[in-house]
Amino acid sequence: MKKNTVVIGAQWGDEGKGKIVDLLARQADAVARFQGGANAGHTVKANGREFVLHLLPSGIVHPKKLCFIGNGVVLDPQSLMEEIAQVRSQGIKVEGRLKISPLCNLTMSYHKMLDKARESKATRAIGTTGRGIGPSYIDKVGRLGIRVGDLLQFDVFAQKLKESLKEKNFLLKNYYKVSPASHDAIIREYRKYPALLKPYMADVSLMLNQLIASGKKVLFEGAQGTFLDIDFGTYPFVTSSSTISGGACTGLGIGPSGIGSVLLVAKAYTTRVGNGPFPAEFDPQMADFIRRKAGDEFGRTTGRPRRCGWLDAVMVKRAVQLNGADQLAVTKLDVLDGIKQIKIAVSYGIKGGGYPWTTEELAGCRVRYITLPGWDQPTGGIRSYAKLPANAKKYLQTIEKLTGVKVSIVSVGPDREATIFRG
Ligand code: IMP
Repeated sequence: MKKNTVVIGAQWGDEGKGKIVDLLARQADAVARFQGGANAGHTVKANGREFVLHLLPSGIVHPKKLCFIGNGVVLDPQSLMEEIAQVRSQGIKVEGRLKISPLCNLTMSYHKMLDKARESKATRAIGTTGRGIGPSYIDKVGRLGIRVGDLLQFDVFAQKLKESLKEKNFLLKNYYKVSPASHDAIIREYRKYPALLKPYMADVSLMLNQLIASGKKVLFEGAQGTFLDIDFGTYPFVTSSSTISGGACTGLGIGPSGIGSVLLVAKAYTTRVGNGPFPAEFDPQMADFIRRKAGDEFGRTTGRPRRCGWLDAVMVKRAVQLNGADQLAVTKLDVLDGIKQIKIAVSYGIKGGGYPWTTEELAGCRVRYITLPGWDQPTGGIRSYAKLPANAKKYLQTIEKLTGVKVSIVSVGPDREATIFRG
């Protein structure tokens, strides 16, 4: 990693960013999360151990790296503490390395209650992770949120909580007809957090700007994926944060000039958890086949089976533009081994070739595919691009041609070693 790099998912999340970030983190001085919350599920396999991270940056598994959680993240302290305890029990030291912005909004128990209540009452459920993400961001932009820094003045925290609960409990009781949140129970639970979180609090923006100015290398770790972006995703079937590369600036307090490279991570096929349009989705039989072949196409946070489809070059090309990507990583290429004919979605049949303006238009589009010959040779053990089967190389070259970006990393298995770097 020669430049400060932001790693972004090209699809609907679960592209294998955790592994790519973990690999690049070895060459970075710091790793920073800038959006999302405990809805993320990043799997990192290192030294024979598997870590499933939700809030902690993937860099945490590297003992010497600084890790940042920026203001754009919504932080659930209970989830964070459980995760810190889990990585500690696996021999990882967190103290002195983890820096959390006091400007992060807190995800409270009532956000999770509202998330679940809203989903169960909705006529058109989004299929959220139930981690309270939407309601946390609603409070943030509605200026009703409580921030990590508020915990340092507990009377201020208690006052804001009281104010917020008036509205939340009215909704929970009268509209959703579920039990309200207890002010006293939250106060009792939160009394421990000022002492637990204070050691991690720091001016993340200042520290990152100083690191960047002194020539240190920072890796910015995106969560979810481009098509879950609050603006550019398949709205309303999206998450509530800016998942695209621009989010790294607003979610950390750095300028665009602090980012040197944008690496877009695309799975060799496409998956999605949750509801919403999926133009290149497989029929149930093929989806089942790929899920079984891949072995792990189940949501890391919720355990839900992921929906599967062919690689969609219209999406990936759009993601290249939205993120300003200059490199592409293609993951899980090995899952396609042995498939006789591989398709790629190349057009949505929209007049003039543009991208659909509404989700309804996207859901109704007529996808056109190209078909490429597959390869029989297993790719999982291959470590150099030159040794990939000719048709696998052709597949990657076709992706490059369709998206206009060079594939610089190919992943052929979950372990760190199962990776091909080009140049
Ligand atoms: P929320 O972020 O929990 O509000 O969920 C909104 C949508 O984003 C749902 O379709 C979720 O399945 C999806 N989503 C959220 N986080 C992830 C993730 O880390 N990977 C894949 N999908 C996610």
